[in-house]
Amino acid sequence: MERPRGTRDFLPAEMARRRETERAMRRTALEFGYGEVQTPTFEQTDLFVAKSGEAIVEEIYVFEDKGGRSLSLRPELTAAVMRLYSTSLTHAPKPVRVFYMGPYFRYERPQKGRYREFFQFGAELIGTPQPEGDAEIIALAVRSIEAAGMEDLEVRVGHVGALRALLGSLGVPAEMAAKAFPLIDKGDIEGLRGLLMDKVEYSSIELIEDYVSTTGDIAVVEGAIASLARFPEVTEALERLKAALEQLDAYEGIGYEVDLGIARGLDYYMGVVFEVDWQGLGAEKQVCGGGAYELGQLFGLDNVPATGFAIGLDRVDIAVSMSSQDGPVREGALVVPMDRDGEVMHLAVAAAEALRSSGIRTELEVMRRGTGKALKGADARLFRWAIIIGSDEVAKGKVAVKDLDSGEQRLVSLDELCDLGI
Ligand code: HAM
Repeated sequence: MERPRGTRDFLPAEMARRRETERAMRRTALEFGYGEVQTPTFEQTDLFVAKSGEAIVEEIYVFEDKGGRSLSLRPELTAAVMRLYSTSLTHAPKPVRVFYMGPYFRYERPQKGRYREFFQFGAELIGTPQPEGDAEIIALAVRSIEAAGMEDLEVRVGHVGALRALLGSLGVPAEMAAKAFPLIDKGDIEGLRGLLMDKVEYSSIELIEDYVSTTGDIAVVEGAIASLARFPEVTEALERLKAALEQLDAYEGIGYEVDLGIARGLDYYMGVVFEVDWQGLGAEKQVCGGGAYELGQLFGLDNVPATGFAIGLDRVDIAVSMSSQDGPVREGALVVPMDRDGEVMHLAVAAAEALRSSGIRTELEVMRRGTGKALKGADARLFRWAIIIGSDEVAKGKVAVKDLDSGEQRLVSLDELCDLGI
């Protein structure tokens, strides 16, 4: 039977690499003072329908349970974290810093880097309205991806509230703006023009096209503030973007490009937004997306400023495996008993347990292969050490350790065995 479309199995070597990435990101988040949370894999459909907008609804896995409730596999975690905040964390000291990782589900057209079951590492910073918060969340995202071993990241920062305010100020009705956003998100300027044509003045369309194509450094934000002075709602948002970028400059080595055309796919974004790309990934090059949002009012809370991000772990894994130049490394030990009588096996198991308790990955030969064949196998499977034990070793109370790297062999006691230096 085949796996469902858009899902994958992961073999031990892939899982080892993925777990390494997760460990590096978890460590980074903990260092920034974030605590891990976990929420259910499925939620009431309502949680996602109202909160993430139409785009996500089409991609959701919805099902009815035996009690007739409409449930959905989670497509992302921001709404659920906000739900968790509203029930359990409103009285916690502000800001609240949380992170999470796990599987997510979207009914998308699968391709390389885009799956129906995929994995994210994400974080949310809840309760600060300050630009330092925007800067911290961008810095945490970048530092987490770097911790996984990726370099040459492209960070783009914009302000979705400024974009929305500009469309509103130029007379684009809200329903049309909702259709314009996905086009802007895709960079589909032709499509955008087609949508606005005949409904919005030509000069306004030109201005919008110009605005969403604006990229550069902080000076382009200052330029936009000056040229759009007649739209105070827009310039207020751009001032906020400028303040966040100034805060971000305090972080050593985090380069970014301003991109006023970032629209993001989900409806809940309101403020500073950002995306991180890695060109080596091709079509699905976005490894991270996030920004400031407002979801509190959906849970009866007023004024809960929040910002966050999610990193696509599958894309990070593709990038890490592409850029890893490490050759195969020898590690671990294979314990080879030369016969299976009580004393030899006893010493063999004791040697394996001693190695394991000092943190060395150790396998015991359980196929009853001859010693020569077992050693050949250990070499081919890139073990670093073979521990050979026969009746001679039992008589001496020692074990023979063969270093498969150098070929050297020596007799050591069980105590010395643990100082193999791996
Ligand atoms: P998102 O942009 O939908 O944002 O997803 C974040 C990242 O998850 C993407 O940049 C991408 O790397 C990865 N990703 C998304 N869909 C797939 C897929 N089908 N297959 C593989 N990877 C995928 C969010 O999910 C927001 N909740 C982020 C956020 C947190 N905003 C504020 N707080």
